[in-house]
Amino acid sequence: MYPYQLKSFEEYQQAYHQSVIDPEGFWANIAEHFYWRKKWDKVLEWDFKSPNIKWFAGGKLNITENCLDRHLGTLGNQPAIIWEPNEPDEHHRIITYRDLYNKVCQFANVLKNNGVKKGDRVCIYMGMIPELAIATLACARIGAIHSVVFGGFSAQSIADRIQDAQCSLVITCDGAFRGGKDIPLKSVIDDALIGCPTVKRVIVCTRTRTPVSMLKGRDVWWEDEIKQVETMGNPACPAEEMDAEDMLFILYTSGSTGKPKGVVHTCGGYMVYANYTFVNTFQYQPGEVYFCTADIGWITGHSYIAYGPLSAGATTLMFEGVPTYPDAGRLWDIVDKYRVNILYTAPTAIRSLMGYGLGPVNHKDLSSLRKLGSVGEPINEEAWHWFKDNIGKGRCPIVDTWWQTETGGIMITPIAGITPEKPGYATLPLPGVQPILVDENGKEVTGNNVSGNLCIKFPWPGMLRTTFGDHERFRKTYFSTYEGLYFTGDGCMRDEDGYYRITGRVDDVLNVSGHRIGTAEVENAINMHAGVVESAVVGYPHEIKGQGIYAFVIAERFTHDAELTKKDILQTVSRIIGPIAKPDKIQFVSGLPKTRSGKIMRRILRKIAEGEFDNLGDTSTLLEPAVVEEIKKGKL
Ligand code: WTA
Repeated sequence: MYPYQLKSFEEYQQAYHQSVIDPEGFWANIAEHFYWRKKWDKVLEWDFKSPNIKWFAGGKLNITENCLDRHLGTLGNQPAIIWEPNEPDEHHRIITYRDLYNKVCQFANVLKNNGVKKGDRVCIYMGMIPELAIATLACARIGAIHSVVFGGFSAQSIADRIQDAQCSLVITCDGAFRGGKDIPLKSVIDDALIGCPTVKRVIVCTRTRTPVSMLKGRDVWWEDEIKQVETMGNPACPAEEMDAEDMLFILYTSGSTGKPKGVVHTCGGYMVYANYTFVNTFQYQPGEVYFCTADIGWITGHSYIAYGPLSAGATTLMFEGVPTYPDAGRLWDIVDKYRVNILYTAPTAIRSLMGYGLGPVNHKDLSSLRKLGSVGEPINEEAWHWFKDNIGKGRCPIVDTWWQTETGGIMITPIAGITPEKPGYATLPLPGVQPILVDENGKEVTGNNVSGNLCIKFPWPGMLRTTFGDHERFRKTYFSTYEGLYFTGDGCMRDEDGYYRITGRVDDVLNVSGHRIGTAEVENAINMHAGVVESAVVGYPHEIKGQGIYAFVIAERFTHDAELTKKDILQTVSRIIGPIAKPDKIQFVSGLPKTRSGKIMRRILRKIAEGEFDNLGDTSTLLEPAVVEEIKKGKL
């Protein structure tokens, strides 16, 4: 089924070698196995200076023909998506490849009826229901560029993203069920749209049926629009012919500055890369049931719930709820119910489930599991072993996959059952990936048993091509720190065996429960609260979330009392960014440690937040050395 699936360690080594000495030949051989309307003229064109990266230039395709049409003959009746609702006793849904094809065509026609054209940007803000996947694919079908925004972001964050991308249409739901909560998505969109004149149409899919306001002339119901297409006799929707380098989607992610950036992925390279990495990392076998617990609002959902699995004709399980609802055995019930073979989840979920002990795991039939995966943050050894022993029962390989929104797909990882694994290590790069460690001066760190900043020195097909509307920011963020290299922002060590272990971000980006959050973004939000003079945000080790958010805040006054003011600040952060960015700890201080030139010494604050009071370094050169003592005393 997948001629490019690696079957042994030797095959991996050969492929890796090949991919380095002849990257173009290597990727062309893989790309041959997809459906192209027209073959590419040139496999790769690149320079990391401009930067300019083009894969399969001149090639014509539509990713949905690869995810849907080409499977119909052989896999038409196979489940493409198995959907498990939030409530265990609500009916699940099974959507075959033929159903999915029909629904995507139908909704693509809805988008056309609503004036969406190739190149238009469409914002999608929905819960984890099949219609989210359908809406996403329908955009791709007609060449509209989707920008999916995670359902946990606030109106303000959505507005920023819609304005940046100049979206003309929004697809949302009345509400979303997540665990015990009912999130009023449409009402959040209504707030967001107050400042978004480019949006001419909102399509609202019903899920929770909470009352919503529907603005005449702007808002329409998903179901009514579908009926319209049905009365037209449900015509097919031919896929728009896209150039390999046409934009497929924008996905916003946090960086070290205050404003999230729109990471741009294009059609051809992304498709090949998402598919290749899915098929290989998980060693997917036809018929297997694959379950990724991410949300489609993040890159993991884009690449490994939707595009990777669907382009491979796999059965992908989509779960609406959360691992702890109605109890901490939910994931194991789902594994049991659908005989899941591959489970891909996040360390934060594993750690939180570990906290419930083995009660929720015992007596669950997990014998269908063959392969396990982890993504989004470093996995600590304890969680790794718990996952291995209690979920995989010691017989399933674990793939600890390192990658980023920007990389489009998995970069460094074990290949399940094929290449070695080591707890806490992402181990070896996939074929086509050329990692390099550098010191602060940009000098390559060679040999083994070394550490440095992780860079990639050669393009791979899944890499981002630009940041939407701001190519200079793209250059500055990723290619200016070290000349000629893509800088990941991660620190990394390479052990005596040459295995890579990601040690975490070296820039001002936090990783909270696997979600990327910029410290500057949180500071901006806190500073918007009336009465706050200044703030500094750092991360600290958190048992479940991986990293927690610690905010040092100078407030000029408290309304009522300090505790209430803290709550007010949390409310402000929720409003400006979303609940995921709420600080875990807020400490009021009278000043912040600053250099004489006024720069906040975050290094000192980080140490204090971690409880490491010794070894703060020389503080005598600070503007107000005494403030450090005060902050130490008040540490939470
Ligand atoms: C971190 C998620 C250690 C890393 C796919 C990276 C990891 C950031 C791992 C990207 C891993 C992701 N081990 N750290 N296996 N996977 N990270 O863009 O710091 O949401 O830079 O993409 O998560 O997060 P993003």
